[in-house]
Amino acid sequence: MLTDKVLENLPQSIRRRVEPYIEAVQVMTETSNPKVLRSMAGSGVRGLILQRGKQGVPVTMPSNHRSYFDWTYPNDQPEMRELYERAKEQQWNGADLPWDIDVDPENPEVPIIPPEFMSYDELRDMGIKLTELEKRRLNASVATWMLSQFLHGEQGALLAAAQVTEAVQFFDGKLYGATQVVDEARHVEVFHRYLDTKMNKLYQINDNLFVIIDALIQDSRWDMKFLGMQIMVEGLALGAFGTLYQMTSEPLLRELLRKVIQDEARHVHYGVIALREHFNHELSEAEQREREDWAFEVALLMRNRFLSYEVYEEWFEHKISRKQWAHMISHSPGFELFRQTMFQRLVPNLREIGLLSDRIKPHYERVGLMKYFNGRSADHMSGDQMIAELDAA
Ligand SMILES: [Fe+2]
Ligand SMILES: [Fe+2]
Repeated sequence: MLTDKVLENLPQSIRRRVEPYIEAVQVMTETSNPKVLRSMAGSGVRGLILQRGKQGVPVTMPSNHRSYFDWTYPNDQPEMRELYERAKEQQWNGADLPWDIDVDPENPEVPIIPPEFMSYDELRDMGIKLTELEKRRLNASVATWMLSQFLHGEQGALLAAAQVTEAVQFFDGKLYGATQVVDEARHVEVFHRYLDTKMNKLYQINDNLFVIIDALIQDSRWDMKFLGMQIMVEGLALGAFGTLYQMTSEPLLRELLRKVIQDEARHVHYGVIALREHFNHELSEAEQREREDWAFEVALLMRNRFLSYEVYEEWFEHKISRKQWAHMISHSPGFELFRQTMFQRLVPNLREIGLLSDRIKPHYERVGLMKYFNGRSADHMSGDQMIAELDAA
């Protein structure tokens, strides 16, 4: 690519500054759908170029959706009603987790993520030799970064769930949605408490994640909020939580994730129910194509989120290039496992809501995401079933 050639010939210090912008343009222009580009371009500029999530000040985003009222109180969606009943019964208190457990993120006996998570060989080949202690510290940084992004995603989910509750036209969906708002508040509470009192550190929101949240919060269409939050962000998060749950040796985090996963299973299920009918039967072909392309763009942003540049900037910015770091991360066993389990969960859900046509599949193939599709079916599992599956694997 021409940009690669140009970049190679720039002095390191300038290259470091322009690389993020070039990446931003590349990811935002990956879609050829002008409607998607138009609806996401503003968020792309705010997140990737202006880095609005990283200014250390509160961010306001205007909401443009309509609040949908129904004064006849219909029982209009039995599956959502059922989820509402289940959600009420399964409420839990974040304060009841075993918070008295001592956590030392650098303790090799109880690693938060396994020591072989990163590709240290590749780092060494780039001239970066780390001592055992430094490796443990880097691993702790990566774990803290990941948990920080989970927390930021949960704040996005909290506000998106509130919007969705207003905008959804199913009355049973509103009752259910209210329980999700409480669930997400609890997730913010427990992830924040864990980071604050156990890891003693919080990373800023990743730019790619900011773009997704910014785009779906400001989109006026109720189904885009569902698609962005319930299917894409939550679906991928569910995969990520499951992987970390299996991976970690730290008992408090394991228990925290077990509880959160059980809630999230309901959330993704809700998204699939709400969109299945709508996308498969109520949209024009052009509208369906737009949603399909939008989802693909979000999938790309989520893939790039995992490149964890915030850790790179802290540790290696003056030692290796972003490209080298991205290459190393893409080939790290831990991150590869995350990508695999996340997209394995996402793809069947996309298929079920009708957003995985033969037209879009080659695009997922081109960016290397289709290979994770292993033919599993969409998420209708209860939280208990999901945990049982994770424990058995
Ligand atoms: Fe959540
Ligand atoms: Fe959720």
